[in-house]
Amino acid sequence: MPDTLSIVRPDDWHLHLRDGAALAHTVAPTARVFARAIVMPNLAPPVTSTDMAAGYRQRILDAVPAGIDFEPLMVLYLTDDTTVDEIRRARASGFVHAAKLYPSGATTNSASGVTDVRRLWPVLEVMQEVDLPLLVHGEVVDADIDVFDREAVFIERHLQPIVDTFPRLRVVFEHITTQDAAQFVLGARERVAATLTPQHLLMNRNHLLVGGLHPHHYCLPVLKRRTHQEALREVVASGNPRFFLGTDSAPHARGDKESACGCAGCFSAPAALPLYAHFFEEMGCLDKLEAFASHHGADFYGLPRNTDTVTLVREDWQVPGSLDFGAGEIVPYWAGRTLGWRLAG
Ligand code: DOR
Ligand code: ZN
Repeated sequence: MPDTLSIVRPDDWHLHLRDGAALAHTVAPTARVFARAIVMPNLAPPVTSTDMAAGYRQRILDAVPAGIDFEPLMVLYLTDDTTVDEIRRARASGFVHAAKLYPSGATTNSASGVTDVRRLWPVLEVMQEVDLPLLVHGEVVDADIDVFDREAVFIERHLQPIVDTFPRLRVVFEHITTQDAAQFVLGARERVAATLTPQHLLMNRNHLLVGGLHPHHYCLPVLKRRTHQEALREVVASGNPRFFLGTDSAPHARGDKESACGCAGCFSAPAALPLYAHFFEEMGCLDKLEAFASHHGADFYGLPRNTDTVTLVREDWQVPGSLDFGAGEIVPYWAGRTLGWRLAG
């Protein structure tokens, strides 16, 4: 067993950094490890225009610690009112790399999201034309659909029609949580891919609900039953290039998680790469970590792979129990637990 593992510097293809004072605490843990990140636009108010993305991008760059290179890849938040001109502006900017479909009401700050996916057709047509990838939060929001079924129903009602109607549109099915989603992506046409979070690879709903309610394991889409977790683990361990790293690291202050109505999100950024290494080692295929973390996503987005490297050291490392989050504290994912890998340096 090697004691160190050097891989091409990874990218995080799904990340929440928030804004304002939070940036001082969220940018650094990611920028220390990842060269680039797809930055989610679900701020309040959301990042709905290229101009807003430009401002947000600059605030992120201002928060990058000295001496570190980090490139935020910006994302437009789609609404019922997004125009095709805005899509063209986004593509022409050079710094907006995708647009995100949040079904209205599906998750944190999604109230301005899309209420009727069919109304997006003209926008998707232009995204296909200019080759701007569509990122999808794939859950229906209908009150009569069980929360554990919302991803599977979204595939049938919305994702399959999108993929069929726009055969050249690049589509990322974000943070997949079910066997249905893994199978869909495996069998889909070209240019369809998925991101996977550490929590959906390492946990299932028992980790959320057994022995008490564990609010720091609550995220959306919610953790599913073990058979779904196993299906996700298998497709990732297979090394298929359609599946790549996207932490969905989503910070919320401790009080907002440990609450009568707790927020969804796991702040995994401080431990992200050791968490994925832990997963690949459990699966007996540590050799597949590099492609998942550092090759597949860049290839999908048509961006160059990074050329420098990061090193993991095989050493027990305890994830901090809590971290400073400006006004308050934040409990990271895996808080207080030990991982067998730590980042060198
Ligand atoms: O758990 C989640 N947290 N899922 C999401 O889709 C959004 C995210 C957030 O922004 O907090
Ligand atoms: Zn997210």
